[in-house]
Amino acid sequence: MSQDTYRLINPAGDEMELPVRKGTVGPDVIDVAKLYKTKGVFTYDPGFVSTGSCESDITFIDGEKGVLMYRGYPVEQLAAHSNFIEVSYLLLHGDLPTSAELESFDDTIRTHTMLNEGMLNFFKGFRYDAHPMAMLSAVVGSMSAYYHDEMDSSNPDHRDIFAHRILAKLPTIAAAAHKLNIGQPFMYPRNDLSYAENLLHMLFAVPAEPYEIDPIAAEALDLLFILHADHEQNCSTSTVRMAGSSGANPYSAIAAGISALWGPAHGGANEAVLTMLKEIGDVSQIGKYVEKAKDKNDPFRLMGFGHRVYKNFDPRATIIRDMCHKVLAKLDRKDTPLFDLAQELEQVALKDDYFIEKNLYPNVDFYSGIIYKALGIPTSMFTVMFALGRSVGWTAHWREMISDPAGKIARPRQLYVGAPQRDYKQIEER
Ligand code: SDX
Repeated sequence: MSQDTYRLINPAGDEMELPVRKGTVGPDVIDVAKLYKTKGVFTYDPGFVSTGSCESDITFIDGEKGVLMYRGYPVEQLAAHSNFIEVSYLLLHGDLPTSAELESFDDTIRTHTMLNEGMLNFFKGFRYDAHPMAMLSAVVGSMSAYYHDEMDSSNPDHRDIFAHRILAKLPTIAAAAHKLNIGQPFMYPRNDLSYAENLLHMLFAVPAEPYEIDPIAAEALDLLFILHADHEQNCSTSTVRMAGSSGANPYSAIAAGISALWGPAHGGANEAVLTMLKEIGDVSQIGKYVEKAKDKNDPFRLMGFGHRVYKNFDPRATIIRDMCHKVLAKLDRKDTPLFDLAQELEQVALKDDYFIEKNLYPNVDFYSGIIYKALGIPTSMFTVMFALGRSVGWTAHWREMISDPAGKIARPRQLYVGAPQRDYKQIEER
């Protein structure tokens, strides 16, 4: 048996060698693609805990070491030295841009931020209190009704135009949803502003008076977008890949990813963390809620804790916690009690045997909401902010999937545990 195979022996003693494939870094994979055809059995892995769905060169995570790299660059270095537009170029094109490439890319994004004017009519149809994630998913999905003319997925130029439109227009859609929620007029984007500055302008400016952008707020937002930009084959990214694998319009695939992200087990957790912190209310209640989280009969979980991959710490949470300190200090906000409560909750949980045994640490969603709140962003918009950062990761993975010459439609199988074949009964016999 070569070192690059696993030997499978079935109950009848038949043997099969399964090839092993090695990546640049990280765990090897056992290629089971021919297993069913050869041995008539499926693998079984609900939730895909031990399953690699594809080959990718975009993002690498090491859950044991708390490593996150975009195209090989550690996220800590990108957070310290880069910005979201440069990181977006990196994720989409595979390497850091030259200054000329960055200038051209930045200019392209800045000049694609406006929506087709007809799209604004959608917002007249939503209830004023519609959840902004529902509006984001609906209006992004409608982009397939506006941009079908340039959507030949085999055309690299069309794949670029799609990426530019998703990256440039999602903040405008997100801000329009917020303005509907607060009953204020929609603010058009400005091409003279950076990505984060433009979002702040569209969220908080009003026609009645000038709006001054706080550089700390723009810096904090840009950092959060970098940290949320991509994360390997997470639930929403896998949803985008699966939807796109049928050849569906990529705007629809992104809309599917937005819907998957909304769940409280995924990107919806940042909103759930703030709700949880408000429910806990005071440090004196922390013990009670930690016990609730440990009680198997209680559905309550500590939102913002735990991760499928990270089993020591989420490197993003560490960076965001440090940014929390900076934002609250600079903005002199009154949210420090909330931040103090979150930090105390983290300390209590990390000393608790249950959380230690189950490797539950703060994840990306635990502290991000505290920054969003300090910037004046409503809780219902927190997952929208996550989607804005992740939009470039979804797009990069869609491009990788659709460009794969060996690509095929994603179609998992199952273990059937339903009724064996039986004959139809006339209603009188039932
Ligand atoms: C994101 O995949 C990604 O990369 C996601 C993400 C990204 O960037 O795309 O990182 C973003 O989604 C971060 C996660 C945000 N979600 C939350 O914070 C919600 C709270 N956390 C959990 O629901 C949970 O930890 C998950 C969903 C994040 C991970 O779930 P897993 O990997 O399926 O683990 P599990 O549910 O099987 O939990 C393992 C054990 C269980 O106990 P046992 O059945 O073994 O006795 O740990 C317990 C769970 O009950 N557990 C928790 C817990 N999380 C897991 N107990 C209390 N509180 C928690 N938060």
